Amino acid sequence: MARTGDLAARDPADRAMAAPVLECRGLREAFGDLVAVDDVSFYISPGETYGLLGPNGAGKTTTISMVAGLLEREAGQVLVDGTPMTTTSVGVKALCGYVPQEVAVYPDLTGRENLRFFASLYGMRGTRAHRRVEEILDTIGLTARGGDQVKKYSGGMQRRLNIGIGLLHRPRLLILDEPTVGVDPQSRNAILESVESLASEGMAVLYTTHYMEEAQRLRPRRDHRPGQAPGGGHLPRACGHGRRAGPGARGCLG
Ligand SMILES: Nc1ncnc2c1ncn2[C@@H]1O[C@H](COP(=O)(O)OP(=O)(O)O)[C@@H](O)[C@H]1O
Ligand SMILES: [Mg+2]
Repeated sequence: MARTGDLAARDPADRAMAAPVLECRGLREAFGDLVAVDDVSFYISPGETYGLLGPNGAGKTTTISMVAGLLEREAGQVLVDGTPMTTTSVGVKALCGYVPQEVAVYPDLTGRENLRFFASLYGMRGTRAHRRVEEILDTIGLTARGGDQVKKYSGGMQRRLNIGIGLLHRPRLLILDEPTVGVDPQSRNAILESVESLASEGMAVLYTTHYMEEAQRLRPRRDHRPGQAPGGGHLPRACGHGRRAGPGARGCLG
């Protein structure tokens, strides 16, 4: 997969000036007595990747489920391109591509057939759908295997297809939940390269991981406001940009 750019090569001032694609303020969610996410705030500008790092149970999936409008929040605000996200939002959800941790594709269909099916759900038809499916196969490095049944793919290839489905409608914000769990190192590298490449083309990417080295590789932003550690409330071990939150760190305002 071609790498078309490098985030670090861009002028940080340009990125700092761009209006955020995603703004989260004071996100909180509790399940009964368990506070899963407490006062998490951050923003992502176009062309940035933002990682939520933390072990299992830290609240990563809960956080991105609130961002994607899949889960009601107890408190806080989510703005995508300045528009509030709620569980009932329709238009604003179309700005997001959500890629769940579990691979959600049809194993008996080919990779190309899967993409065509999901493209049809997005209302794409005919030549437009055909072109977009071939573009996506190229982006995820599966053109040569697009005619094979998905059950014959490796775990990493299935994950790449899963990501490709989230890209079909050209989202402004791509949300990836643990995109590299359980995949071989080569596929892991290919997935990280495609994330870097998408960000270099201007997409904002929010991802979760429990691999520290992965969060470090995906270009930390280094503009935390003084006095605010980049950690997230009850994501006490999770933080944006691959940094560990200090004790008592609240929120992660980039
Ligand atoms: N629907 C739910 N009902 C009750 N508890 C939940 C639910 N979803 C998540 N949790 C709990 O919230 C905490 C955070 O979960 P999660 O966001 O899935 O963590 P992560 O994605 O970081 O592994 C965990 O303790 C988990 O068991
Ligand atoms: Mg999770």
